[in-house]
Amino acid sequence: MPSTTRRTVLTAAAAAGVTAAAAGTAHASAHGHGASGSRPVKEPFGRLADGTPVHRWTVSNGGTTLKVLSYGGVIHSLETADRHGRPANVALGFDNLDDYVAKSPYFGGLIGRYGNRIANGRFTLDGTTHQLPVNDGPNSLHGGDRGFDKRIWDVEPFTRGADTGLILTRTSPDGEAGYPGNLAVRVTYTLTPRGEWRIDYEATTDRATVINLTSHTYFNLAGEGSGSTDGHLLELAAARYTPVGPTLIPTGELAAVARTPFDFRRARTIGAPARTAHEQVGFAKGIDHNYVLDKGLTARPGYALTITHPESGRVMKMYTTEPGMQFYTGNFLDGTLTGTTGRRYRQGDAFCLEAQHFPDSPNQPAFPSTVLRPGETYRSTTLHAFSTR
Ligand code: BGC
Repeated sequence: MPSTTRRTVLTAAAAAGVTAAAAGTAHASAHGHGASGSRPVKEPFGRLADGTPVHRWTVSNGGTTLKVLSYGGVIHSLETADRHGRPANVALGFDNLDDYVAKSPYFGGLIGRYGNRIANGRFTLDGTTHQLPVNDGPNSLHGGDRGFDKRIWDVEPFTRGADTGLILTRTSPDGEAGYPGNLAVRVTYTLTPRGEWRIDYEATTDRATVINLTSHTYFNLAGEGSGSTDGHLLELAAARYTPVGPTLIPTGELAAVARTPFDFRRARTIGAPARTAHEQVGFAKGIDHNYVLDKGLTARPGYALTITHPESGRVMKMYTTEPGMQFYTGNFLDGTLTGTTGRRYRQGDAFCLEAQHFPDSPNQPAFPSTVLRPGETYRSTTLHAFSTR
């Protein structure tokens, strides 16, 4: 798509934002310094082919600014400051809706009904076999060819004390993407006055089903479009991971990370391990594996990891209730996509850290269960805490 079109879209959106602020209908701090609890701002972002309008919301608190699309609950940008207080957008994305619809590799997406892969797109629950759309070799990935990241969400802003954020809701109808049950989903993105970004997921169903929601932001703590993330340092509190077969389905084993490229129990750079001759790295063209978090499945968010960009000093810590963390080193970015500020994304230019239940759990009885039954409430929380060093 020509870059003039991209700029037109951005300018129109920016103009709408200015108008809203000037009219005094809403206020947000564009750079997110302080401004605790300021009310989220809404602006147009484009229209789907059928005319459905898509909006972008801006939420700011404690030095962090989040921009969120009503399409897919997509994290369009995430601004945090470096050690000198200079903000940068650390999340990959596109500057226009068409690219999200046509070719997004889940940039910033809210992933459902099932994060990561289900083998052969098939699982059996209470004696009934369900066939899902197969969209990744022989498997179903991230909810199939039209998952939650490609649906329109209802978005409501809120401020609660010093917190501010957005509540996204949607009911996924029985049979959507092959999954049983009407699934009522509510996802809350909160920014705290300390600049933390918290995600709370909740869901209920009227038929037994499986569920594994996550968030698929592609991070580069140096700033979106600034090149390789190889020099980022990761410390990940996981002594085991789930090795996979050639189509990236877990073998079922919980293998020790000790003496493998998967060992991040002490902080080290992410580029070199993703280039080793290890067979598992070969299957995934880098690291694209689920880690078994030492803290296990917890009622409250527990510590999972710290990732640091030494040059800018940006640090992100993650805490989650989930038992797993998918660490993906952007292996399939191949220079064909052009991002928010007009720069190409190449292999390793971002990484994803997706808090989740383990891939293919519906077919792996020994993994923590992803079954949700009527009368139960699915709950999951993940927290991203930003700081500098
Ligand atoms: C998966 C990768 C996939 C990526 C983007 C990650 O969660 O583990 O295999 O390529 O999402 O689709």
